Amino acid sequence: MAIKITFGIQKGGSSKTTTAGITAWMLAQEGYRVLAVDMDSQANLTDLLTQMDIEEFEGRTVLEAIKAGNPNEYIYRATDYLHVLPSDDYLSLLARYLYTEHPNDWNMVLRRVLSHVEDDYDYVIIDTPPSLGEPVITSLCASDYVVVLCESSKWAFTAIDRFLETVAHAQIHYNDSLKVAGVLRNLIDGRRSDSKAFAEIIGDKYSDIVFPQVVRRKAATGRISLNGFEDNAELTAAISEYKPFYEELMRRVGKVND
Ligand SMILES: Nc1ncnc2c1ncn2[C@@H]1O[C@H](COP(=O)(O)OP(=O)(O)OP(=O)(O)O)[C@@H](O)[C@H]1O
Ligand SMILES: [Mg+2]
Repeated sequence: MAIKITFGIQKGGSSKTTTAGITAWMLAQEGYRVLAVDMDSQANLTDLLTQMDIEEFEGRTVLEAIKAGNPNEYIYRATDYLHVLPSDDYLSLLARYLYTEHPNDWNMVLRRVLSHVEDDYDYVIIDTPPSLGEPVITSLCASDYVVVLCESSKWAFTAIDRFLETVAHAQIHYNDSLKVAGVLRNLIDGRRSDSKAFAEIIGDKYSDIVFPQVVRRKAATGRISLNGFEDNAELTAAISEYKPFYEELMRRVGKVND
């Protein structure tokens, strides 16, 4: 059964998608079978991992999978090991669909949908939008772990407690097996004293759950959104920046078949 990991925080631009995408790609590179689920109507993870025009997925996304109750027909095979359940703008209609069709157990819908394929994968990586809304809650209810993303700024810092409250709500009411894998400090800008200061403040306040490894702001990492995972020197630089976090994440969530 796959280990399911959600990447989230309601603060926008905190590297949720970039980190989820790189993690999914690194797992697939190691030979793990990975399903990346895009729960954000911005469809950035879909773009990143497929390098296709999002419009090509119209009518074949995670929203249709949720409506069908089974994702099988909607999974796009980016590579042999890396599969994607894509998203597009229409996923913004998810909340309305959930409340209309599943008013009593809407939060468990994604969990049920993914249960049909979780034996086909080692890891399921779920990217979420910058919100505390339904796509995030249904993702938390479907997951074993959540990685809390945090760029190094005041507004990201103040978002963490509220995000952790949402996680606690999901744990208490719906999914008692959900665990916080950790808080990842990302986009640390070594040239800015405020960025380094917030990295320290976050590290001190969340010392029990923070990843000791930070991910610095690197132009090469930003350009993954342009180049995808085509082999190039920049990709190597971006991946090496993420490697320490990735290894710690694997230690915390466990390697399948170890
Ligand atoms: N470590 C990094 N170094 C440099 N640029 C980065 C890094 N991580 C992410 N970026 C860039 O920062 C921007 C925000 O990243 P990303 O889209 O992954 O964040 P997000 O949290 O998913 O955003 P949203 O809340 O809109 O979903 C993107 O342009 C991305 O390419
Ligand atoms: Mg995103």
